[in-house]
Amino acid sequence: MTVHKLFPTLVYSARFSASAAGRLNRRLLRECRQLSLDDAAGRRWSAKNYPGGYTSYGSAHRMHRLSPTFAALEHAVDRHVAAFARSLELDLAGRKLAMTDCWVNIMPRAVAHGLHLHPLATVSGTYYVKTPRGCSGLKLEDPRLERMMAAPPRLPQAARENRPWVLFAAEAGCLLLFESWLRHEVPANSVAGERISISFNYNWF
Ligand code: NI
Repeated sequence: MTVHKLFPTLVYSARFSASAAGRLNRRLLRECRQLSLDDAAGRRWSAKNYPGGYTSYGSAHRMHRLSPTFAALEHAVDRHVAAFARSLELDLAGRKLAMTDCWVNIMPRAVAHGLHLHPLATVSGTYYVKTPRGCSGLKLEDPRLERMMAAPPRLPQAARENRPWVLFAAEAGCLLLFESWLRHEVPANSVAGERISISFNYNWF
């Protein structure tokens, strides 16, 4: 007999080399913090939509067009997105996936980002700049979950591919990519240090 595994949900992770991540993250960290000081519109937007934290999602959301440091990150991420698209076997009709949005997230203790997806995008992801030990990871949800009304729960020790949620640890210098329809959240950050990340969307049109 054979058990077939169909319709997988692909998630791509990669770690930048220590030297590349070290250099890049020092500059990114400085610019993320400076942006949070300069960006009054973003602070107002965050007070409403990202309580306790700061995100430039509602204000400065094309950082790759504004800052050479973020453009360098875009350049580094481009090739990972291309590799992910090959794994997904996407037929892009000769077009290229390009970064359309890129924004900063700063999460002090207790700040959470509830379940959401990224509408109007193809591939989304996050690059981690600063991740104090024990800070929250990224929780991904089985996209079929709402169909499982009468399904039994899974064993606590079930294989990762059979679980309804999977948590990826956040690690500075690492990158996560997923298809933009995949629902995800950042649980409340339980440690004192700020968790700083940069999120982005890629699109093919
Ligand atoms: Ni997100």
